[in-house]
Amino acid sequence: MEVARRNASGMHPAERRLDEDALAKIDAITERHHNQPDALIEIYHEVQDAFGYIPEGALPRIARALNISRAEARGVFTFYHDFRAEPAGRHVVKICRAESCQAMGCRSLEAYAKQRLGIGLGETTSDGEITLEAVYCLGNCALSPAVMIDGRLYGKVDPDRFDALVENVKRRAAS
Ligand code: FES
Repeated sequence: MEVARRNASGMHPAERRLDEDALAKIDAITERHHNQPDALIEIYHEVQDAFGYIPEGALPRIARALNISRAEARGVFTFYHDFRAEPAGRHVVKICRAESCQAMGCRSLEAYAKQRLGIGLGETTSDGEITLEAVYCLGNCALSPAVMIDGRLYGKVDPDRFDALVENVKRRAAS
């Protein structure tokens, strides 16, 4: 009923691309947070947990529920590197770009990873296997440069170790 009422009240075109179930899921999340603008980041996390990413249509939907501008909703979404606009690949590789890892060569590791996988940050390989993302400190500074793959942390990663880790994770998934 609530969904139908909101739908009738003039949805943004991106919202119309979401089905009723998806809209109801997003509404349930914002309502659980009492439509509080302060909860925007938690809401994004919960939407991403529910969908695997944050669908384009979720942004105007959430902005309206929280009574904030669409620009504000988009600004927060793009500022935090944790939030994805597309579904991730089967494996998510995060390369730390924060200070300590920079001092230990994460930029060249990042360049290697991009070239090796043929994708940029925030992109997924065409076979859907690997999504490459940046992260800002994994709390593993003593073992910089640090990488996280599917939630597991690895330190002192150089190009050879990067290749071995990526191959391992693919092999594990295949077995
Ligand atoms: S700066 Fe990379 S783990 Fe802390």
